[in-house]
Amino acid sequence: MSVLEIRDLHVSVGEGDEAKEILRGVDLTIRSGETHAIMGPNGSGKSTLAYSIAGHPKYTVTSGSVTLDGEDVLAMSVDERARAGLFLAMQYPVEVPGVSVSNFLRTAATAVKGEAPKLRTWVKDVKTEMAGLEMDPAFAERNVNEGFSGGEKKRHEILQMRLLKPKIAVLDETDSGLDVDALRIVSEGVNRTREDSDLGVLLITHYTRILRYIKPDFVHVFVAGRFVEEGGAELADKLESEGYAAYVKDSAEQAASEAASA
Ligand SMILES: Nc1ncnc2c1ncn2[C@@H]1O[C@H](COP(=O)(O)OP(=O)(O)O)[C@@H](O)[C@H]1O
Ligand SMILES: [Mg+2]
Repeated sequence: MSVLEIRDLHVSVGEGDEAKEILRGVDLTIRSGETHAIMGPNGSGKSTLAYSIAGHPKYTVTSGSVTLDGEDVLAMSVDERARAGLFLAMQYPVEVPGVSVSNFLRTAATAVKGEAPKLRTWVKDVKTEMAGLEMDPAFAERNVNEGFSGGEKKRHEILQMRLLKPKIAVLDETDSGLDVDALRIVSEGVNRTREDSDLGVLLITHYTRILRYIKPDFVHVFVAGRFVEEGGAELADKLESEGYAAYVKDSAEQAASEAASA
């Protein structure tokens, strides 16, 4: 049983006078076996939250805390976070020219587990997981993400998650750019992991479509760097029909009154 706890997290990007606060007090607790959907408009700071949990150097935590089972995540390097059991599926996976998928996965697994996986079982595991995500075995020899379609990149992210077996996974718009078949395949990969490893999931999205495949226990609405509403799966249906406009308006009015009283 693992718990990721985010408390009053404030995060900025940029330096000095250019610094801009993106996360403005984020509170969230995710336990093993729970799936939390974070939904919000473009530019609200969802990816900033994902990167801040993963430890991207561009984002500066100005206050607040993130702990995993009581350990201070913010004090950990990016690879320490991965070893502790955190995983990020990126919204825009990066190309790694010159590194094959097969080498990349084995290096990542070795780094996360602290020892190289046994070759025989490893090769079999990779094959099984690729088949489960309906990926052509030829992908193992291609360079990471180079020339991959949007859907292939997202499958590769889920393949990593399947093999690295994290405790808590942050999936940043894993649904974007997927056709309906790829969406189902990727969602099934996430659901298998929820079942066989009691994974905790932070599912970031701005469409409700993926929530038909991956059922969330909690839905959180995220606007302008903070949560503005929380509910169960039914909240997603409300967002589907009404959009974010009312939340965006409330949030802008609140920011204006805060600025006026400051
Ligand atoms: N490296 C950066 N430099 C400057 N602004 C950034 C940077 N990263 C994110 N932002 C800004 O932070 C805001 C939130 O971005 P992001 O977290 O990507 O939102 P979302 O994922 O919800 O669409 C946006 O206004 C974006 O332009
Ligand atoms: Mg984003």
